[in-house]
Amino acid sequence: MNSCQKKNKITVSNMDKYYEGSKILSDINIHIDEGELVTIVGPSGSGKSTIFNIITGLTKEDSGSIFVNGEISYMYQKDLLLPYKTILDNVSLPLILKGQKKREARDIVKPYFKIFGLENYEKNYPSDLSGGMRQRVNFLRTFICSSDIILLDEPFGALDSITKSSIQEWFIDIKKSLNSTICMITHDIDEAIKLSDRIYVISSRPANIKKEFNLSSFDKNNVEEVSNLKKKIINYFI
Ligand SMILES: Nc1ncnc2c1ncn2[C@@H]1O[C@H](COP(=O)(O)OP(=O)(O)OP(=O)(O)O)[C@@H](O)[C@H]1O
Ligand SMILES: [Mg+2]
Repeated sequence: MNSCQKKNKITVSNMDKYYEGSKILSDINIHIDEGELVTIVGPSGSGKSTIFNIITGLTKEDSGSIFVNGEISYMYQKDLLLPYKTILDNVSLPLILKGQKKREARDIVKPYFKIFGLENYEKNYPSDLSGGMRQRVNFLRTFICSSDIILLDEPFGALDSITKSSIQEWFIDIKKSLNSTICMITHDIDEAIKLSDRIYVISSRPANIKKEFNLSSFDKNNVEEVSNLKKKIINYFI
């Protein structure tokens, strides 16, 4: 084996999934190597979240095989914040569950509140926050306990464009310092191009992989190339 070959972290092979007799996923094949950021883009309702639920073992596939090599942190599309805990305690929770003392956990997470535009909301409860703010809390909480493999289901979906762009910049920076393997679902093709090493485009139901784009030697600063790639992806989308 080539010593430079990257370690495989996730492989989904020939996977099918049915709900109530109707085929949702058809022959899905995905592989993700260590350190990669791979995005899945596809139409609404096509089965993207179901793919993540199967990778994490929350839902069972009907056929095919799933291989996962490592510990997964999973950011759900819907936030699962605890309504009776403050935002600070919601974000600290994964660290406390890992054995950190409550005060230490709070001290670790506090500096991130500014970056995420959540400063001064530490003592508020989830019901006090807008949808976009709750999504940021949810995202921050996933990163706080980030492990080996991070699955993000539309992490920027509910954000306004200014907040989205600043959190994406932060994300690009933090990605460089993390050794994590990341797989992200998005509807936003610009976002997929901006953030990914590779993109899988999936079809509408039953979803299958229509195309894979490798962006490792792609110039993301070349406006014309980006625009051409976007057009190509949209063509596979419809
Ligand atoms: N537990 C379930 N039981 C029955 N049907 C389900 C279940 N979960 C999802 N589905 C159906 O499977 C299809 C795919 O759902 P899924 O949530 O994976 O799509 P998605 O691509 O993530 O959608 P969105 O873009 O809206 O987030 C939908 O038609 C949905 O109604
Ligand atoms: Mg979804």
